[in-house]
Formats: sequence, structure tokens, C-alpha cells
Amino acid sequence: MRVLIVGGEGQLGLTLTELSKTAGFASFKATTMESLDLSKEENVKSCFEKEEFDYLVNCAAYTAVDRAESERETAMLINAQAPEWMAKYAHQKGAGIIHISTDYVFGGSGNRPFSPESPKYPTSVYGETKLKGEELVAKENPNHIIIRTAWLYSRYGANFVKTMLRLSEEKSELSVVYDQVGAPTYADDLAAAILKLLELSAKDKSSFVPGIYHYSNLGVCSWYDFALMIFKLSKRKVKVSPVLSDEYKTAAERPAYSVMDSSKIRKTFGVQIPYWTDSLEKCISELN
Ligand SMILES: NC(=O)c1ccc[n+]([C@@H]2O[C@H](COP(=O)([O-])OP(=O)(O)OC[C@H]3O[C@@H](n4cnc5c(N)ncnc54)[C@H](OP(=O)(O)O)[C@@H]3O)[C@@H](O)[C@H]2O)c1
Repeated sequence: MRVLIVGGEGQLGLTLTELSKTAGFASFKATTMESLDLSKEENVKSCFEKEEFDYLVNCAAYTAVDRAESERETAMLINAQAPEWMAKYAHQKGAGIIHISTDYVFGGSGNRPFSPESPKYPTSVYGETKLKGEELVAKENPNHIIIRTAWLYSRYGANFVKTMLRLSEEKSELSVVYDQVGAPTYADDLAAAILKLLELSAKDKSSFVPGIYHYSNLGVCSWYDFALMIFKLSKRKVKVSPVLSDEYKTAAERPAYSVMDSSKIRKTFGVQIPYWTDSLEKCISELN
């Protein structure tokens, strides 16, 4: 089996590429911004004419949540139109697509974990463009798996864990919001789940059960709890004060509650999902 990873330079793309090196069931190739700039349909078309693959994993996205509020067109281009082109040209060559989406498709009012079928009502441009991307991928390629994830962090790129560790070197006191609740997700765990799906499909094509799935680490916390745990595990002495979102204004509105129910991916593919603090501990020890 041959797998093309699109967006190989982002945190998930890099992690998946790294983990794929020891996955013997398939050959993997990753694209970069240089080898495949997704902003033009022609680029996608010509790349997919050249590359041979049975499955495509789209890890690329426009992820600047606040900037998206003033760059709607670019966000829509990368998060919706490019996935549409990828799904279409992949389908034309008989390939399936795994596309990554987000908890931000949910507006955040609720107090029970969202299932993949829960009503969607994004409150940010980013969430809106990601939702449009999901719809277009599903429309263009029947052989699609869409995985919504949340609060992604890794040893690569920019993320909350690395930001907190950096800030702890610059400041002795920090304020972090405690009225937004979700589930942190370690990119290694998500990448391992994607590899498991692909491995099952390599053995038996019918294991690739199309649909929308949720994957976040188990457990629930606020950004404040997340920060406290980062400093506890990294043994850094920082005073963290809980604040309300109103006291920490951002251009994009974040969901107050964005916990997702990941049971469908567990039941369908037998994927194991670690508890969030166990995975955070692994990431911190790698970063240290
Ligand atoms: N990060 C989170 O907390 C989070 C939460 C929920 C869902 N997700 C979803 O999870 C997936 C992976 O996220 P991530 O955190 O790994 O994202 P990331 O680190 O921001 O990586 C995204 C990659 O896409 C690339 N990209 C942007 N525009 C492109 C273009 N025109 N052509 C080719 N590549 C382009 C980016 O390149 P540049 O860096 O050069 O722009 C970057 O390398 C995304 O679908 C995201 O929406 C993320």
C-alpha cells in the first residue's frame, strides 16, 4: 500500500511522517509547501497525476484561528477548497482520503461530549471553513474518513505546551482561561491511530469504514488545568491564575465546551486512546 501525507511540515504531518518510518505495512511519502502548495487547483491536479498512492492523509490546514477572522478567503481556500480538490483528484485515481478536522465545528454550548453526529454551529471563521472542508471532502470522495481532533500539541511547531514552557522562562506569573473546557490531544497518539486505520485497510480494504470520527485524548480539562499540569510535569515554578475568557480577548470566539466523544473510532477500529495526562507526560519528557 502507498500513502501520501499532505502537509508534511506541520505538527501532525511531521509526527505522522516520523512514526510512518517504522510502519512496515506501507510506503509513505510526504509533501511540503514547496512540493505542493495547496492554494491552486492546478498544483493539486499535477501533483496527484505524478504521485502514486492508495490513500491520502491531509494534515495541511490554515490553522491561524485568530488571523482567519480577517483572512476568510485564504482560510476558505486552504481549509475547504484545497481539501475538495484533494478529495476529487484522489477519487479519480481510486484513492481514499483521511482528512483532519476540528472540535471548532461545534460552537461550544453544551455539557455533554459531542458525538460525530451532534449539530454543528461554528462560531469562528476557522471553524466555518473547516466544516465546509468536511462537507466538500465527503461530497467529492465516498472513500473518506474525517477525523475531528482538538487541542493538538507535539514536540513540533507552535502549540500550547511549547508556548507555556517558553513563557515559564520569561515570566513567573501567568493568567490562563478556565472557562473553556476540552481535551488535549498528543499528535503522536493521533498519528498512531491514523496508522492503525491504514494498517487495517492494508490488510482488508473493507476495514476503511467511511464517515466522521472524533479523536482526542481521554479526559477533560480547562486551559488553566492544562497549564498547571504542564508546569507540574515539567517541574517549573510558575504562579498560574485562572481568568475568564472575557479578560483574555481574542479575535476569534473559542468554544466554551468542546469535549468530543471518541467512542466511535475506538469501537470501529479498536484504537486505544491514552488519558491526556499520561500523553502529556511523554511529550514533556521528550521536550526536556
Ligand atoms: N493545532 C490544533 O490545536 C488543532 C486542533 C484541532 C484540529 N486541528 C487540525 O489538525 C490538523 C493538523 O493541525 P496541525 O496543528 O498539525 O497544523 P499546523 O502545525 O499548523 O500544520 C499545518 C500545515 O499546513 C501547511 N499549509 C498551510 N497552507 C498551506 C498551503 N497553501 N499549501 C501547503 N501547505 C500549507 C502549513 O504550512 P505553514 O506553516 O508554512 O503555513 C503547516 O505546515 C489540521 O487539519 C487542523 O485544522 C488542529
